[in-house]
Amino acid sequence: MIFGVETSCDETAVAILKGKDQLLSNLVYSQIDVHKIFGGVVPEVAARKHVEVLYKLSLKAFEEAQITPNDIDAVSVSFGPGLIGALLIGVSFAKGISLSLGKPLIGVNHLMGHIYANFLEFPKLKPPFVTLLVSGGHTAILLVKDYLDFEIIGETRDDAAGEAFDKVARILDLGYPGGPVIDEISKKAQKLYDFPRPLYNKGYDFSFSGLKTSVLYFVRDYPEAKKEDIAASFQEAIIDTLVYKVTKFAIKENIKDIVIAGGVAANSLLREKLNTFKDKLNIYYPRQSLCTDNAAMICRAGYEKYIRNMFDTLDLDVVPNLGLSKI
Ligand code: KG4
Ligand code: ZN
Repeated sequence: MIFGVETSCDETAVAILKGKDQLLSNLVYSQIDVHKIFGGVVPEVAARKHVEVLYKLSLKAFEEAQITPNDIDAVSVSFGPGLIGALLIGVSFAKGISLSLGKPLIGVNHLMGHIYANFLEFPKLKPPFVTLLVSGGHTAILLVKDYLDFEIIGETRDDAAGEAFDKVARILDLGYPGGPVIDEISKKAQKLYDFPRPLYNKGYDFSFSGLKTSVLYFVRDYPEAKKEDIAASFQEAIIDTLVYKVTKFAIKENIKDIVIAGGVAANSLLREKLNTFKDKLNIYYPRQSLCTDNAAMICRAGYEKYIRNMFDTLDLDVVPNLGLSKI
């Protein structure tokens, strides 16, 4: 029984996982309303909100799971990447639980958590598979060879996909977070404009900052263009690039399973485009609530470390710029 804590950004989340895939509780307190007025996440405000919410949310999780804190076997927590102040709250809280109850502490790479969310959704899913990881801070194609063994095939050289959505939404004055709004308004719009697709045919790395800048100039130069149409055209360019690269790699390597992870996995155009490959490839993406930040995925990744006795000591530190190279 693993208790999981996630506080890397603007969601305070806790979960309790029994065994491999029995979620007894999965609670997320979204701070979006708190940060919305600022047009983005304010790190110090996020950290303070985590302090305020985390303890109460945890009590609720134990109540919902109908177990006591003493019933857990370990506590797993995101130790990076993320906002330093926000991460510190979760990691300190998890250490407190570990120390006071004498339960092992397991630090989890938040990015690995996003991939592991798929094992919760699809208990029969097994490596090897290809992953497209598309979150607010990262964008990568990975070859997952085994549960804790993977290779980075391509990464973004500048902005992450989610970051590009958020920045373009800001340019278009659509509010925060940008991904869901752009996704929604694009449904009723026309993809009239041809925005650039940097590095399209060049390997498996991504680059989205030029795309974002071209939207910025377009808005300046064509003030009469409809926001919805610009958003839809931007979305088409970014999603087309993601889908092209990940499917190309999977087909080349003859790997049938593609697993989508991270907040942008919720994007409806991404799902629609990937579904056109259904006859050649199996596409997996978790339900919406497991795509965006949650603690269930931190429990699931923690479980793999638990069964391998991969525990951390109370020296576990937060790593705000943690990449994909450390599990
Ligand atoms: O994985 P996540 O919840 O947090 C990070 O670990 O970064 O991802 C958040 C990102 C945000 O940039 C948000 O705009 C984007 O995911 N996102 C979406 C959608 N829903 C969330 N992007 C495109 N379409 C969506 N439907
Ligand atoms: Zn995330």
